[in-house]
Amino acid sequence: MLTRTAQDPAGLDPIETASRDEISALQLARMKDTLRRAYEGSPFYRKQFDEAGVHPDDLKELSDLRKFPFTVKQDLRDNYPFGMFAVPQNQIARLHASSGTTGKPTVVAYTQNDIDTWADCVARSIRAAGGRPGDICHVAYGYGLFTGGLGAHYGAERLGCTVVPVSGGMTERQITLIEDFKPSIIMVTPSYLLSILDAYRAAGLDPRASSLKTGIFGAEPWTNAMRKEIEESFDMDAVDIFGLSEVMGPGVAQECVETKDGLHIWEDHFYPEIINPETGEPVEDGEQGELVFTSLTKEAFPIIRYRTRDLTRLLPGTARSMRRMEKVTGRSDDMIILRGVNVFPTQIEEQILKCADLAPHYEIVLSRKGRMDTMAVRCECKESGASDAQREAAMKELSHHIKSVVGVSSIIEVVECGALPRSEGKAKRVRDERPDR
Ligand code: DLL
Repeated sequence: MLTRTAQDPAGLDPIETASRDEISALQLARMKDTLRRAYEGSPFYRKQFDEAGVHPDDLKELSDLRKFPFTVKQDLRDNYPFGMFAVPQNQIARLHASSGTTGKPTVVAYTQNDIDTWADCVARSIRAAGGRPGDICHVAYGYGLFTGGLGAHYGAERLGCTVVPVSGGMTERQITLIEDFKPSIIMVTPSYLLSILDAYRAAGLDPRASSLKTGIFGAEPWTNAMRKEIEESFDMDAVDIFGLSEVMGPGVAQECVETKDGLHIWEDHFYPEIINPETGEPVEDGEQGELVFTSLTKEAFPIIRYRTRDLTRLLPGTARSMRRMEKVTGRSDDMIILRGVNVFPTQIEEQILKCADLAPHYEIVLSRKGRMDTMAVRCECKESGASDAQREAAMKELSHHIKSVVGVSSIIEVVECGALPRSEGKAKRVRDERPDR
C-alpha cells in the first residue's frame, strides 16, 4: 500500500484511470485464461461447455463470451457443496455460504490469491468512498458465512484502516463503540443503519454530532431518497457498495464519493453483461435488464456468465474509466406483480420518504381477498404519540403518492413508532401471505 501511494500520489490503482482499450485488452487476456482454467479444473464447466459445443479456444474477442452458457443459482445447489470448484480442496483457503433459508445453501470458495484479490477490491472500494489509510472503520456487516463482515474487514485492513470488527446486532453496544472509538467510516446494511439511528435518538444522542463521516452501504437495495435521509440524519456521505457471494462478495462495484452517480464495476476483475431476462440476449449499454457477471481472476471458483437476477443498466465511466452500473432497483425475484402492475419495494420506499411525518421503516404485506391480490404498506410515524388526525393525513398522503407514481392502490397502515420489526442485516421487505405461493 505504501508502494502504491509512492507510485501514484492520488493513491489509485493505475487501471482505475486506464483507457477503455487498455481495460478491454486486459479483460480479454484474463477472460481467455479464466475459461481455460474453468474448463480444465471444474468438471461442471467442462460438461457445460461440451454440451453447448463450445471450447475456451472459441473466445477470440470479448463479444464471443455470448457463445458460452449461463450459470444460475440452481447449478450451485445441484453441485453442493464443492462440485463447481476448479482447484483441489487443499488449495482452498476459505469457504463462505448463503444462509440457505430456501433449499440448500450455496457454497463459494477462495484460494489465498482470491482472498488477496478480494481484499484489494474492497480496499479500492473504501478508497473510492473517501476512506484513507489511518481511518477507523466500524464494520457492522455480519461476520461468519455471510461475505459482508469478513469481506469488508480484509479490505479495510488492506487499505491501512484501523478496523473495528463489531458484526451485526447488539445495537446499543454499536453506539457505545461509535461514541468511544470515534470511527469515521461505517460499513453496514442501510436498513441496519436505520436501527442504529433509532437507538442513537433513543439514547438522547445527536447522530449528526457523531464521528461518522462516511457510510458504505450495500447487501440490499436502497434508494437515493434513503441516501438523502441517511446523509441528513448523520451528517455523512452515504455511498453504495455492491457484490454477491457467487461472484466474490462485497467490492464487485462501488460508488465514488465525488460523484455519487452509480457504482463503478471493478472491470479488471469482473466482466459485466446486461441481458434481456426473458430471451437471455445481451442488450446495449444504457438499456435496463438483468446483470450477468464473469469473473476474470478468480481461481477456486471461476464463475462464467452468472445470472444475478439483479436489475440495472450499464453506464459509461465518470470518476473512474470503468463502467458504472446504476443503483440496483431490485431483483427479479423481489418484483411484486399486483393486478398486472410490476412493483419493486424500492418504489414504495421512495414514496414513503416523500412523506415528512413518516419514518423510513416499512414492510409490505401481500394477501388475497377473494380473487383480488392486495398490498398493504405498513409504516411508522416519525414522532411517537401522533394524533389520529396526523396518522390519517400521513396515510392519505402515502396512498396518493403510491397511486399516482407507482400506479397501484394499496392499503396503508401507520403503526406506532418502533412497532415494525427492525433489521440487523438484510431487511426483509415483503411478507407474502397469499395462499399457493
Ligand atoms: O450481500 C455481499 C455484500 C455484502 C454486498 C456487503 C455489499 C455489502 P449475498 O448475500 O450473496 O452477498 O447477496 C447478494 O444482494 O445479488 C443483490 O441482490 C443484493 N445486493 C448486494 N449489494 C447490493 C446493493 C452480499 N448495493 C445480493 N444494492 C445481490 C442492491 C444489493 N442490492
